Amino acid sequence: MSENVLRRLSRVILLAIPLVPAARAQDPWSWPEKPKNLQVLPKDWSGSRLQPVMIGFTRALGVRCPYCHVGEEGKPLSTFDFASDENPNKNRAREMYRMLEDINNHLKNIQPSGDQRVNMWCNTCHRGRPKPMTLEEELGEQYRKSGVEATLDYYADLKQKYYGRGPYDFGENALNNFGYDVMKKDPAGAVQVLRLNAEQFPQSGNVWDSLAEAYMKSGNLTAAKEYYEKALTRDPTDQNAQDMLRKIREPAKK
Ligand code: HEC
Ligand code: HEC
Repeated sequence: MSENVLRRLSRVILLAIPLVPAARAQDPWSWPEKPKNLQVLPKDWSGSRLQPVMIGFTRALGVRCPYCHVGEEGKPLSTFDFASDENPNKNRAREMYRMLEDINNHLKNIQPSGDQRVNMWCNTCHRGRPKPMTLEEELGEQYRKSGVEATLDYYADLKQKYYGRGPYDFGENALNNFGYDVMKKDPAGAVQVLRLNAEQFPQSGNVWDSLAEAYMKSGNLTAAKEYYEKALTRDPTDQNAQDMLRKIREPAKK
């Protein structure tokens, strides 16, 4: 990684020093004078160079040291084995670091349009989460594990924690797209998802149109009609809602 990026990393991170897991009074641990097992960072780096980078990793991913290192959360750092590669996330992080180097080298092939070259670093992708996923992807993963109800609870948790911060776009598209995914196999589940979206964005025509479609797919034509009509009050140009209402009213003619 270029010195430039490393310097920037350090600068951002120094502001965050209070987040350093405080070495406790009785904890003899300190940053090692000579790290033993550096494979991607410069081998001659001392602990004081390492510190801002490690803090940067924790901040960028929203995790703490044991996420990548061998050691137990809450235990003194002197009980950790930082040189060990046993925690698979450590090698994942190394691979990420190599990838980031490739990206930043590749970026040199383009002439920046702004007054400065914009480099990438961990947080450009991660934004405070260990796996940089869109909200829909995150909800999809949860859904495959545990179904609609648990996923909607999870959505509420994420929104409480992250609304207004970097990692997720809580606009109407996330639940809308997720709802359509669910609809393929589970129209009733999709009704739950899309209803929540409609409650959150009641001024949008599209959310009501989507909710109506989920009702349509689950065979509840009365509700479908009600929500297509609602969609049209928000957006009178909604051609789909007009067509669907015509179908519902004149089922014989199709
Ligand atoms: C996202 C993963 C990640 C997190 C989180 C992380 N580290 Fe690291 N750490 C690494 C990687 C990767 C290396 C090895 C770097 C290399 O190979 O050049 C490393 C190396 C180290 C080393 C050098 C060990 C040696 O002797 O070779 C120390 C010390 C260290 N980390 C401390 C910490 C501390 C303290 C924290 C919490 C504030 C932390 N790390 C958080 C990934 C992480
Ligand atoms: C170009 C975007 C990008 C950048 C830059 C990036 N990452 Fe990642 N990272 C990802 C993606 C995508 C995944 C998820 C891969 C998967 O699980 O399929 C990931 C996964 C990880 C994981 C595994 C998390 C888990 O729980 O499985 C670690 C650790 C990690 N990144 C560390 C880092 C560190 C440290 C940096 C900076 C040196 C970094 N990443 C930079 C995109 C990025």
